[in-house]
Amino acid sequence: MKILVIGSGGREHAMVWKLRQSTAVEAVWCAPGNGGISKDAECFPLDLKDLNGAADLASKLRAEITIVGPELPLASGIADEFAKRGLAILGPSQKAAQLEGSKVFAKRFMERFKIPTASTYGIYDSPIDAYTSLCSVDWPLVVKADGLCAGKGVLVTSSPDEAAAFIDRLMEKKEFGDAGKRVLLEEGLAGRELSYIILMDGKGFVSLAPTRDHKRAYDNDEGPNTGGMGAFSSADILPPELEKKILETIVQPTLAGLEKEGLNYCGFLYFGLMLTSDGPKVLEYNCRLGDPETQAILLRADFDFADACARAVRGDLGSVQAKSSNGASVCVVVASEGYPENPKIGKEITGLEAAAAVSGALIFHAGTRREGEKYYTTGGRVLGVGAVAADLRAASKIAYEAAGKIRIAGAHYRKDIGISNAPRKAAAEGSNG
Ligand code: AMP
Ligand code: GLY
Repeated sequence: MKILVIGSGGREHAMVWKLRQSTAVEAVWCAPGNGGISKDAECFPLDLKDLNGAADLASKLRAEITIVGPELPLASGIADEFAKRGLAILGPSQKAAQLEGSKVFAKRFMERFKIPTASTYGIYDSPIDAYTSLCSVDWPLVVKADGLCAGKGVLVTSSPDEAAAFIDRLMEKKEFGDAGKRVLLEEGLAGRELSYIILMDGKGFVSLAPTRDHKRAYDNDEGPNTGGMGAFSSADILPPELEKKILETIVQPTLAGLEKEGLNYCGFLYFGLMLTSDGPKVLEYNCRLGDPETQAILLRADFDFADACARAVRGDLGSVQAKSSNGASVCVVVASEGYPENPKIGKEITGLEAAAAVSGALIFHAGTRREGEKYYTTGGRVLGVGAVAADLRAASKIAYEAAGKIRIAGAHYRKDIGISNAPRKAAAEGSNG
């Protein structure tokens, strides 16, 4: 198999790493990739919005499968472009990707198919109507931009002033362009979050290991929200009865809904769940794998990931079982100084070899570039320090020993990934998305 991976983050580095382990894989390429990926696979420049460029590259390379990491190309219709050209791709059509690309589409879909989710106060095209509605909602309130906002389109708040200021930024200042033209106001849910991701082949599906993301920048879920400061996976975050309930009340009705609406879904479908006292509820759908959830999932994956992806593309997942190792995995994200508000980039990264030499640790690159044997930061989330061990405590210990060896001026990382498993504060407040 020859496989092209689209994307440039830690998620894509983990995919490249895992794909290369398959005996059936002859070549793995990545576009655009990053510094670390370029050590493991040949990388090609690509603008993620350039669907033609991606299809041209896949044709030129004669890639047998293209696997798409991020949401932007999927929501822009990369799968449709590939299908038009007869190129095999793992990822949903633009229409199906609206489950992530439009919060309003997703909410209406969930309402049509009675999928448990936060109740909606309203969907607004006019800022005046949105401000007015703030007088009649309960708090905490969640304000969501309808479109993709690169992780900044959701605010959870108990402050009417903050809600109004966020609506102003979205709808009047148009900070996120058309993505903020329409907003959705919904109930704030409390509980622990769980990322439940399945791989679909158009008919059937297989569930991946459950993971928990840590969205806040600092320990104990303090500070601003981020794209994810770390994730962990272990079987005990998803007892069998809870998984049964998620399958019965959320996954199956979602698949039935997709079928009823003629959306033939091939790719990863991510259920962002809040485990409330009233049962699991959907916070969001993503039409792709999570980042950094993928790093934690693939560290535990005890199956041929390339084969599973190829079978999903062929509509032949059949008896594939995405088995996971018994223990636990952790991925700690090392972020640039100033992340998430104003990351300082261009810093040299040292200590990578020492970190990788820690037994059980694995370093995934995200915002890095390579110059010869030297690496420099290019983004907010720089590295994911992964570890796998017999249990969560042991995995965290390894990940933190390795993270402690990395030197980047001003960088920071959370010290409680996989350690603090305490219940979240009621609907942790802050912006995200
Ligand atoms: P989303 O982009 O919809 O995933 O939202 C990003 C994050 O905002 C989620 O992971 C939650 O931490 C938080 N969030 C979204 N919706 C809600 C909600 N209804 N109640 C509480 N927190 C939420
Ligand atoms: N870690 C959350 C996401 O990938 O959307």
